[in-house]
Amino acid sequence: MSNIKNYPIAPKFTQQANISELQYHQMYTHSIIEPDNFWGQQANQLISWFKPWEKVSTGDFTHMDTTWFINGKLNVCYNCIDRHLPTRANHVALLWEGNEPQQSLQLTYAELFEKICRFSNVLKKQGVQKGDRVAIYLPMIPEAVVAMLACARIGAVHSVIFGGFSSDAIKNRLLDADCKIVITASDCYRGNKIIPLKHNIDTALLECPDVKSVIVVKHTENVIEWNDHRDYWYHEEINSVSVDCPCEEMDAQDPLFILYTSGSTGKPKGILHVTGGYLTYVATTFKYIFDYHDNDIFWCTADVGWITGHSYVVYGPLCNGATSLLFEGIPNYPNPSRYWEIVDKYKVTIIYTSPTAIRALRHEGDHWVTDTNRKSLRLLGSVGEPINPDVWEWYYTVIGHEHCPIVDTWWQTETGGIMISPFPGAAILKPGAASWPFFGIKPAIIDDHGNKLPADQKGKLVITQPWPGMAKTIYNNPDRFFNAYFKDYPGYYLTGDDARCDADGYYWILGRNDDVLKVSGHRISTAEVENAILADLSVSEAAVVPIQHEIKGEAIYAFVTLKMGIKPNESLKKEIIQKVRENIGAIAAPDHIQWADALPKTRSGKIMRRLLRKIADNDLTDLGDTTTLTDPSVIDRLIRGRQM
Ligand code: WT7
Repeated sequence: MSNIKNYPIAPKFTQQANISELQYHQMYTHSIIEPDNFWGQQANQLISWFKPWEKVSTGDFTHMDTTWFINGKLNVCYNCIDRHLPTRANHVALLWEGNEPQQSLQLTYAELFEKICRFSNVLKKQGVQKGDRVAIYLPMIPEAVVAMLACARIGAVHSVIFGGFSSDAIKNRLLDADCKIVITASDCYRGNKIIPLKHNIDTALLECPDVKSVIVVKHTENVIEWNDHRDYWYHEEINSVSVDCPCEEMDAQDPLFILYTSGSTGKPKGILHVTGGYLTYVATTFKYIFDYHDNDIFWCTADVGWITGHSYVVYGPLCNGATSLLFEGIPNYPNPSRYWEIVDKYKVTIIYTSPTAIRALRHEGDHWVTDTNRKSLRLLGSVGEPINPDVWEWYYTVIGHEHCPIVDTWWQTETGGIMISPFPGAAILKPGAASWPFFGIKPAIIDDHGNKLPADQKGKLVITQPWPGMAKTIYNNPDRFFNAYFKDYPGYYLTGDDARCDADGYYWILGRNDDVLKVSGHRISTAEVENAILADLSVSEAAVVPIQHEIKGEAIYAFVTLKMGIKPNESLKKEIIQKVRENIGAIAAPDHIQWADALPKTRSGKIMRRLLRKIADNDLTDLGDTTTLTDPSVIDRLIRGRQM
């Protein structure tokens, strides 16, 4: 790593930063030695409570019973909206930029408040009660934020489903969470492509008899199918109810939302976050990591269908009374200047995006950037996958004019909010390093036996102390929660990532060490893709591995064995890819399929993925020990059959 240059604290920024290096170290030490005292202070400063908690935290990872803000009462919507009204009713809460550059809208806190109250009453009218699960399958439009906050207001638990998921994936999520109601839109455009949202819901609902109503936002003029007994127009319903809707008093432990994410087995996990700890954690991380100041225009480009959208499009910014920008479109439509034109149009001060988007835009050529001004920017963020140092440099130099610090934030759906990141204005920046643990976060690097490793050694990243943003459980499956994160190394939360910590205490994230892929930053499990491929009747076996991809970071490479007597051909490849699109969605479609007459297996029948990864990546220098294979000749045949 010695060839990578470290950046000094960005000069223009230093005078404004909320936290200095010294303050970081003081506050960090306080947060680790006296976590209850530290989090009690944050929760008091940043959150309004209807009733104070009796104790800040109890429990530990060994017993998997950590609980925050015991018996504290609050409401998340109240904190994100109502309490700002006396001081900032006319402050813009949401800025919206549609798929087309001429589509835009803004909503003040007062306007958003009214919409949320009305929609809360619509949900109530539909019989939704505290604790009920509500599915949201919407594009990036203000109604998505309205629907999420309306659920929070009445104590319903939302399950937002990313618009890129197929009907099958939707169906599985609706059934698992036992949703009775779905909020969707007629359809939407992403770039030139139309996404038939309502149609996808209609198909999913063929197998979800318990869903009794669908509320539909009319987002385009296109005609859609309609079921009179089940479907309601959003715009009609909100005009049929009152604007008054009191907030439900929620316990700090009450569920706020479920969000499905991929694990190392085939079935997505319904990660459940609870009211008090989650809100405190996202509010605190938003304030410090983005160095939030009044009048900042904050733009997180993530979709609300992912945790980044939950925490840093909606809950973190609004809890801090900030202005959050919501963008419906894609980075390269109508051309690759779009992001920077949006920055100039709304005078965005903080942009938070993914390495995939940065790589794709860098690939298009600098003139798309340099034609724009971007002078409003003062802070850049990155999330979702490791950012390569050269891409980091481009982001820093070309996008940020060398005066915006980059916060490379590492975290996960399960962690609720940012866990490791440079503190802007306080940390010396090292391109490619996620850097410093956030307050209250005590990471460690361990070997396979659970021993802590010294500086600079690669190992498994674990977190050794509870923090408020930690997920409560996996919905309906506490055993899986325990087995996935706490069983193998008692007392630690196992992240699934490899990392190393350098001698300066900077953490470097090296990628997943389980069967989870990061394709364009999207989290996908190999088992999920394999199951989808196996759903094709011609297929007898499949093994999926990641290969490196210039833009996507990782792409999917599948080894497929066909059933006896079935001849491989190109149209069969298309059919298999189509199966994956139908089962999961386009984001999980394999880039490459290699026919394999057999897969490399150990005598106990386990597929040796380690070998397949190397073959797919064409990295044949050291294939390691292959003596345990039943038939070592398989390897040569696979190498010869390699695609590309
Ligand atoms: C996985 C979690 C974090 C919210 C969005 C993704 C990878 C995330 C970084 C980063 C290197 C990163 C990890 C992690 N990841 N951020 N800054 N550097 N890797 O949440 O979908 O739950 O994925 O994303 O592998 O475990 P997620």
